[in-house]
Amino acid sequence: MSLPRRVRVTARAKLNLGLAVGPRRADGFHDLTTVFQSISLADTLLAERQPRGFRLIVRHEPAAERGRLTARTRAAVPVGQANLALRAARLAARHAGITGGARLTLIKRIPAQAGMGGGSADAAAAMAAIFALYDVRVPLAERLELGAELGSDVPFALMGGTALGTGRGERLRPVRGLRSFRAIVAVPAWRVSTAQAFAELDRFRYGLTARNAPLRFGKVTGRMVIEPCEFIRLGNSFESVLGARSPSFTGLCSRMREAGLLEPRMTGSGSAVFGLLARGASVRAVLDRLAGSEALYVVRSARRALDIGRLR
Ligand code: C5P
Repeated sequence: MSLPRRVRVTARAKLNLGLAVGPRRADGFHDLTTVFQSISLADTLLAERQPRGFRLIVRHEPAAERGRLTARTRAAVPVGQANLALRAARLAARHAGITGGARLTLIKRIPAQAGMGGGSADAAAAMAAIFALYDVRVPLAERLELGAELGSDVPFALMGGTALGTGRGERLRPVRGLRSFRAIVAVPAWRVSTAQAFAELDRFRYGLTARNAPLRFGKVTGRMVIEPCEFIRLGNSFESVLGARSPSFTGLCSRMREAGLLEPRMTGSGSAVFGLLARGASVRAVLDRLAGSEALYVVRSARRALDIGRLR
């Protein structure tokens, strides 16, 4: 079969259903325990084969049910060499001995620096696109290892579904039996730098409270049927180091609860907060009750992170 000229990759965002961060390690990263969950909100990556070199164009497409992307949000997505998708494409090509290149068009819908794994999703999509364009088969374990070179969340963005993440987030074990769910994700205007959020945890030494986290998460993962709230109730360490932003976070959680959303929780190091929709609840009614300026996304849990399609 001939090589495809173009491929389209759907790259889904993630939520952390609970996230417990441990102390800083000698290599500067932090051991953590979390449950990653793929969700329906996704970027699209179009990749077209070209003889050599890699280029990237980024387009922003509004995906929020309510609220808009601000210019600052858009600016948080790097263009050019700093973009993780471009770095991932180059790494994948080098790894597989591919000498050809690709032109990438990234259609961005996942808000950046919100804790939803948008950059990692794009990196995973770029790796998958390069392997598909040049028909290279790379075993999953090898792809995950390669992904970890780009970022701690990239292996999950390749694997998808529901997974227990340990180590710096790159060690994954699939979790079975989690009930599917719908949620509303609220994204405040402020953004969070992951590195800075981890540094704040060090400053306040909250990480030390996460010592028994693998045990607490392990107790839940062993069950036949798991409700998402069982993981969510295990908490998120980053909620304790918001400093001046703490009142705005707790205010948002109260408004979400008042609107009928269950168990509001921060994802990753923020700033996005998600709340579960009760079974049978009307999205419209909840949105109507939810006051505030945050951008709102309606999502559902997804079984996969990536979908790859060949185009003519
Ligand atoms: O792995 P990634 O590039 O996404 O991490 C960004 C930064 O977040 C790291 O440079 C590090 O400062 C911090 N980090 C950490 N512990 C982790 C993951 C990330 O300290 N488990």
